Amino acid sequence: MNILVVGGAGYIGSHVTREFLDRGHRVTVFDNLSSGLRENLFSGAAFIHGDILRYEQLVAALGSGGGMDGLVYLAAFKAVGESMVQPEKYSINNIIGTVHLLNAAAAAGLKYIIFSSSAAVYGEPAYLPIDEKHPTNPENYYGFTKLEIEKFLSWYDRLKGIRFASLRYFNAAGYDIKGRIRGLEQNPANLIPVIMENACGIRKELQIFGGDYDTPDGTCIRDYVHVSDLAAAHALALDYIGRTGKSVTVNLGSETGSSVLEVLETARRITGKPIPSRPAGRRPGDPARLTASAALARELLGWKAEYSDLETLIKTSWNAYRSSN
Ligand code: WQD
Repeated sequence: MNILVVGGAGYIGSHVTREFLDRGHRVTVFDNLSSGLRENLFSGAAFIHGDILRYEQLVAALGSGGGMDGLVYLAAFKAVGESMVQPEKYSINNIIGTVHLLNAAAAAGLKYIIFSSSAAVYGEPAYLPIDEKHPTNPENYYGFTKLEIEKFLSWYDRLKGIRFASLRYFNAAGYDIKGRIRGLEQNPANLIPVIMENACGIRKELQIFGGDYDTPDGTCIRDYVHVSDLAAAHALALDYIGRTGKSVTVNLGSETGSSVLEVLETARRITGKPIPSRPAGRRPGDPARLTASAALARELLGWKAEYSDLETLIKTSWNAYRSSN
């Protein structure tokens, strides 16, 4: 198929692009390179330097190469903390960008969209593990924008016949198993890349946000899922909506919880680096535990997290950081 990967030069987008190329699709990456990196572009994929806020650029991209069959939509701002102080930025890029993207998709007669959604749509968990029936009540503006995009997708499905898959990622981490992704995320705030920057000496110590949670070791528990597993889910989701003609919303997580200290100890062992740390106060808005039920993705898409054990998550991350620093 002819696939447009919007945001394909970013961290998750580059892995998704690799996956679609590996499966024999024709891929065009559309990215404004605001956080995406040129080194993440593959020779096998075409590249359009474009912005989702420029409607005419989207229309041109959707018509390129004989027209697109499907689109993967990953272009969004995703810094939770920033979204609470600069909501305007998130409104413009994430919401207005979506309106342009959907209008361009409708104008082009596009059939399928795979959307990069987030566990942030759920907010504070009412029960665990979180399944797709869990109430959606985002606690931050970023999560609100992801939930609104899901609603736009439902309406364009109903009114324009664009079928979609919303993939609600839990904590994405790790790097390509075969080490083919060269670009590292710049100024990361997420736990595993921050730990990796400490292991490389880019940072001096890890702050552990909160040690008095109601968990076995007092630190927060999260569901880390390998980015290559996420990438595979995009391809399976496209197969599913193509095969059934039905839209779908699923969680993607490993269904395993790991605490901050478990992640840190695993990283110390694998990297052989001391990775100094110090206790810091709780970070506002952090739930004690978050774990996914991914039963629906297993059942409908035939998806399975293959690389999402802590060992593989840290090994593949270290492989990427060690070879770049
Ligand atoms: C993980 C744990 C921190 C950094 C975020 C978004 C979520 C989704 C995934 C996109 C927490 C602790 C972290 C550090 C620490 N994003 N931590 N020291 O907040 O679970 O999820 O990314 O859709 O919406 O909120 O991920 O990696 O920031 O934190 O102690 O320097 O590590 O407190 O317990 P989070 P994270």
